Amino acid sequence: MVKNSPVPDFSFSRRQILKGLVAAPLVAVSAAAGYSRLVEPYLYWISETDILIRNLPERFEDFRITQLTDVHHSRILGIHEVRRVVSLAQQTKPDMFVLTGDYSTSYRRYIEPCAEALSALSAPEGVWAVLGNHDHYTDPELTTRSLQRQRINVMNNVYTTVHRGPDSIQLSGIDDWTWNAVNWVRAFSGLKTDTPTILLSHQPIVLDLAQTRNVSLILSGHTHGGQLNFPWLGAPARFATKDLKYARGLFRSGDTQLYVSSGTGVIGLPVRFGVRPEIAVLRLRRA
Ligand SMILES: [Fe+2]
Repeated sequence: MVKNSPVPDFSFSRRQILKGLVAAPLVAVSAAAGYSRLVEPYLYWISETDILIRNLPERFEDFRITQLTDVHHSRILGIHEVRRVVSLAQQTKPDMFVLTGDYSTSYRRYIEPCAEALSALSAPEGVWAVLGNHDHYTDPELTTRSLQRQRINVMNNVYTTVHRGPDSIQLSGIDDWTWNAVNWVRAFSGLKTDTPTILLSHQPIVLDLAQTRNVSLILSGHTHGGQLNFPWLGAPARFATKDLKYARGLFRSGDTQLYVSSGTGVIGLPVRFGVRPEIAVLRLRRA
């Protein structure tokens, strides 16, 4: 005769259920806090976006630009991390690198090491940079000099023409809009209206300005995508600043497109959630 084995008792006491109800959210919050501090800030994402551009010359079809922005070398983002970002970016093998500002956060001592790490970037059409608001806060002259010393072209309100045989596109860079450092005349006068223009601007808000109406593509950073972006809630930072009007991704106003990268660094709290650090690869296509 086979005896029935005793049925295990899976029932919970009321006290155990209450304990579980209290503990579960605490565990979830701790896990999310740990993830946002220790994991996501270093979970680099190489985004790839095709940008359709009207009048793009044939020889610039599939021209690839890799954008780094908001590196924010600081105590919380050490030089080994900056070098890791640079190494990942270099692996994308673009035709051109662009850097759209905020190389350090608040202290001058981080400027030169950051520029040194960025010097490992190389592309056939060079490395082009503009300054961000934090670079003005730390030391814009030292930032410009340090980048230039590493053969990085700093575009403080200037433009250049990139040639491929008889074809060309124009690249312009403006200094930081929020520090009233923009000189539109220097940055734009002389640009041909029948040739596509790419504008480097740390601040994405310049998409709203009449001055950028003839620009084909603006490449920006500054927002960090909000840095924290919770499901259902969105980015809490949007309640504190209007800067997140163009938080991240591709936007359009008339014929002008804007790509905002979430950048690779952090400011304020050393955390990211729902906005992975981004190395953006933009591929130009003929519209
Ligand atoms: Fe920034």
